[in-house]
Amino acid sequence: MNRRTFLKTSAGILAAAPFASSFAAAAGRKRRFALVGTGVRGLSMWGKSVLKTYADRIEYVGLCDANPGRLEYARKYLGLSCPVFTDFDKMLKQTRPDVVIVTTVDSTHHEFIIRGLEHGCDIVTEKPMTTDETKCQAILDAEKRTGRKVTVTFNYRYGAHPTRLKELLREKAVGKITSVDFHWYLNCHHGTDYFRRWHRLRGKGGTLLVHKATHHFDLVNWWLDAEPEEVFAYGGLDFYGRNHSFRHTTCRGCPHKDKCRFFWDITKSKHMMDLYVANEQHDGYQRDGCVWKEDIDIFDKMAVQVKFAGGVQMSYSLTTYSPYEGWRIAFNGTNGRLEAWQDVPWDLGFDTSITQDAHHAKQFDQNRKTKKADFDPIIVMKNFEKHELIKVPRTGGGHGGGDPILLADIFSGEKRTDPLGYMAGTRDGAMSILPGIAARTSIDTGKPIRIADLTTLKPVCKPIHS
Ligand SMILES: NC(=O)c1ccc[n+]([C@@H]2O[C@H](COP(=O)([O-])OP(=O)(O)OC[C@H]3O[C@@H](n4cnc5c(N)ncnc54)[C@H](O)[C@@H]3O)[C@@H](O)[C@H]2O)c1
Repeated sequence: MNRRTFLKTSAGILAAAPFASSFAAAAGRKRRFALVGTGVRGLSMWGKSVLKTYADRIEYVGLCDANPGRLEYARKYLGLSCPVFTDFDKMLKQTRPDVVIVTTVDSTHHEFIIRGLEHGCDIVTEKPMTTDETKCQAILDAEKRTGRKVTVTFNYRYGAHPTRLKELLREKAVGKITSVDFHWYLNCHHGTDYFRRWHRLRGKGGTLLVHKATHHFDLVNWWLDAEPEEVFAYGGLDFYGRNHSFRHTTCRGCPHKDKCRFFWDITKSKHMMDLYVANEQHDGYQRDGCVWKEDIDIFDKMAVQVKFAGGVQMSYSLTTYSPYEGWRIAFNGTNGRLEAWQDVPWDLGFDTSITQDAHHAKQFDQNRKTKKADFDPIIVMKNFEKHELIKVPRTGGGHGGGDPILLADIFSGEKRTDPLGYMAGTRDGAMSILPGIAARTSIDTGKPIRIADLTTLKPVCKPIHS
């Protein structure tokens, strides 16, 4: 897929220099990739999707995971003949990859990023880059020390709807932006699922302020061309975990399953059973953990105030037990207001007769066919003028059509332009996690937290919005 189909380009935007998709074919040979973390994301986005399109340009020379059973399943599932390793350093020494893809549990990303860099590899890492400020600084230092490159894959940026917003903001469609209202709603399927998995533990995912909100903070930083400066937050755990009258260990074998609306039957998915349940013996990880478990130590409601370099301020919230999954944003500018939203079911012709279950299934079907008439809205409201509704056509593919374009940027080997700055490195990776890390500390301490106090990075605002 060509990202240009997304762009309503302006002359200034077109002036951007082309770049060669950096991890693609080197002269005369395929680029050598190794992947660490053979869970669901590693196998889907970085496994099947990459091999389907780019097997003629890249090769997987090694797979690594702490769970030997999952690793073996991964090799078969992907149809690869490369060696598999539970020892990461051994994989690097034996297979000499050019690039390491990191798709492990969030709190471990830094280990593989740093060791990969020290072995002379470039790194492609899943979000969040890492989960605390100390690990973040260690990654920044390692990149500098080794001279290698880390790419953080922010697939949400690439969607057609976020892209159109970025263009409107670059064009200053409503003047200089002064404040942002941004609210994200996770539903009782996808949102609930975070509380079944390792994400429910602060020590693994850094709370949803990091694991999930890294996407949202990155979008805002990118939209505004500005970095966060100071954060104050509230948060609580009011719904999941200890807040319930009954609980079990997993949904499998649960004596309460007939009365629990959150019962989820993993046995219905062969892939999930093969990937996780069949390999519990190796690490004890239970994919269908009870959402009422008392060990849940993350927030399920979060409200964050962020002040950006350059003066923009933002009110952000994240909700995890909403009847629908979607988001709303408004950019308030000196000449008006931009409003946009996705998947708000009571608006713009949505079929209200379908159940929440059916709506969720449709929304999360990666193969869903989009109708020509499907669109995501942006309303441009200029002060004293009429409102304009921009209908951004929906595209297929994961994350609003973003995933395939991100893969093309990384693997295609084509000369590509990046006028909107989709490709992100460690600075963007850091600036997308530091507000969540600061928010977590702010909730714990009741104090505002300055981003400049967390690492050596000093927040800046790019000239476009100053
Ligand atoms: N960009 C996106 O939209 C998106 C979507 C889903 C997941 N992700 C990210 O992908 C990553 C993986 O998520 P997932 O859903 O596949 O989780 P998962 O639990 O399915 O997979 C994680 C894998 O990491 C392995 N692992 C954990 N610790 C390890 C260690 N120390 N050494 C080696 N292997 C280790 C586990 O055994 C497991 O196989 C996460 O960082 C997540 O944030 C991103």
